[in-house]
Formats: sequence, C-alpha cells, structure tokens
Amino acid sequence: MDTYCLAIETSCDETSMSIIKNGIEEIETVVLTQIDIHKKFGGVVPEIASRSHIEYITIVLDELLTKSKINIENIDIIGVTYGPGLIGSLLIGLQCAKTISLITKKTLIPVHHIAGHIYANNLEKRLQFPLIALVVSGGHTELVYMDEDYSFKRIGNTLDDAVGEAYDKVAKILGLEYPGGPKVDKLAKSGKDTYNLPYPLDDDSYNFSFSGIKSAVVNLVHNEKQRGNNIRVEDICTTFQNRVLTVITKKTMRAIKEYKVKNLVLAGGVAANEALRKSLEKLCQQNSIDFSVPRIKYCTDNAAMIGSAAYYAYKKGIIADLELNAVATDSLYDSKFSKKINT
Ligand code: KG4
Ligand code: ZN
Repeated sequence: MDTYCLAIETSCDETSMSIIKNGIEEIETVVLTQIDIHKKFGGVVPEIASRSHIEYITIVLDELLTKSKINIENIDIIGVTYGPGLIGSLLIGLQCAKTISLITKKTLIPVHHIAGHIYANNLEKRLQFPLIALVVSGGHTELVYMDEDYSFKRIGNTLDDAVGEAYDKVAKILGLEYPGGPKVDKLAKSGKDTYNLPYPLDDDSYNFSFSGIKSAVVNLVHNEKQRGNNIRVEDICTTFQNRVLTVITKKTMRAIKEYKVKNLVLAGGVAANEALRKSLEKLCQQNSIDFSVPRIKYCTDNAAMIGSAAYYAYKKGIIADLELNAVATDSLYDSKFSKKINT
C-alpha cells in the first residue's frame, strides 16, 4: 500500500510543504523563501522569520493542496521538522502539523533537520548502504556513517563554525550580500589563489574547524585596508574556497576508504557549491564509489527532503503525539527521535 506524506519544514527562513509518496516520489513541493526580507539585515532575524512563517503557512498549504490536487484526508502521515533550528520558526511548522494531525487523525512523524538534508538525496536515487554523508550547511559540518535506513553515526563534526556560516561571514567581511555562500562560490570562479590563508584543521581526525580561517580573512582585509591596498575580492574568495574545500574533500575521501562504503552522499546548503560537487564527483568516479547530490533547489531547506526522511522514520516506528515540542539544538545521534519511541 502506498504511503503519502505531508511534510512541513520551517526551521529557518523557508516556509515549505511537500507531498512525498513512499519516501521516493515527489508529488508536489512549495518553498516560500524569506531571503529578500532578511537581506537588508545581513542575516536571518529570528523574530521576523517566525512572524513571516505565521503569515505564509496557510498560503503555502493552500497552494500545495491546489497544485497536487490531493485531498488532505488522503494523506497517510505528517512529517515535520521538530529541530534543530530557530525555535520560533520551528514552532509555527510544528503547530501547523499538530493541528492537521488532530483534525485528520493522521500519524505525526518528528524529523530531525539533518536527517532531512541527507534524505534529499533519496529523492534523486535510492540511498545505498553503507554510506558516508557529508553534511555541509549553515548550521552543520558533519561526516555521518549509515549502514541502513535511519541509522546515523557521526564520525566527524565541526569544533566551532559550520562551513556555511564561515562562507556567510567571509562574504559579509567582503561586503557581499546575504546569503554570502553562493556569491563567494560564484566569485571564486574568476579569482586566483594568491593570498596566504591557512588550511583549516588539516589533521588526521574527521573533525573540522573554520573559525581560524574566518579570522585570517578578517585580519587580511583589515591589514590590507590599513596599508591602503586594494582588496581583490575574487582572489580572497578563490583562496578561501580552495583552502576549505581541500580539507573537506580530503577528510571525506579518507572516511570513504576507511569505512568501505558504496555511496557518498552530499547534503545541506553548501552542497549547492559547484566546486565541491565537481571535485567530489570526480574523486568518487576515480574510486568507483556511487556519488549522490541533491538537485540545487533541494540542497537548501525544503520540505521534500523532510517527506522522504519521514517515511523511513515511520518505517522504523518513530512517531510522536501532540505533546511533541520544538527543540533548538537537538542532536541527531542521541535523539529519542532517531530511535523507536513509544507514545
Ligand atoms: O541547509 P541550509 O539552507 O540551511 C541550514 O540548514 O543551515 O544552508 C544554508 C547555507 C548558507 O550558509 C549558505 O551561504 C550556504 O548554505 N550555501 C552555499 C552555497 N549555496 C548555499 N555555500 C557555498 N556555496 C554555495 N553555492
Ligand atoms: Zn538546512
């Protein structure tokens, strides 16, 4: 029997809903981004984000049901991001999911945002196990090992800033608009690797650290300005990106070999980075490992990925009741919602 999931994602500045069939087939997705609203503040303003979610959520639901021609009564499960994220933003999506669950009596599935990013890949082609997922977003930089569906073991993590956060901060120092990651990626294509920036935590661990290179860029820009030198923005972007991606790809490829996996899965907003996609694809080809990456629009936050993850959580018996609350900082690896729970 087919399982139709209504999925809801509001963890940051995207109000998104989707209908996903059997965890793999996208019926319809609506994503309403607030980027233009937050741009003028140079980053996401949490209070404005949650107010905008309130304004948009019923509009997005209406549009989804109209476009998909699906009656809400024909939905089987409701998947919702319960965390991590901005608490006020999460609560809007969660309240909407709980209300629909109460009215329709459909099962509520709590989905961790990182699980969602990983399962964005499942909408492209079925995940193959064992796999390593490289999760690179505005809030996370992690290497995750999975030997079956919905079983997550973290083998590496960032010790400070997430890589997307470092991209955004470097962009801000360079005077580029929010969100800076895509702009740094674009400018890096036309620059030269001429600056002296450090390789971030280039060691034998699987951990990452980006605050050092971020501070190095701050100092570099400051010193060049004091000396009255012109700042070559493209060259800083190229050098910064080369340093960061060299270490990320090196550690990822080492993990793939050590864990003898079949599939490398790239996930999170920074998975949209062209240089990262290309270099990992090439390295996977050379090592005969299957490479998965979401289409660009599903690298950043969306509900389609939540709908895919929710299906596999449901298969594992992970369900919630109306007591479900939003959590700003829940870890996927010891969360009660990555294991079977009783309600
Ligand atoms: O996954 P996401 O939408 O939000 C979080 O869950 O954090 O990721 C957003 C992050 C931002 O930091 C943004 O600058 C970064 O992904 N990003 C990129 C690119 N596109 C988005 N970073 C580098 N290169 C890109 N092309
Ligand atoms: Zn995200």
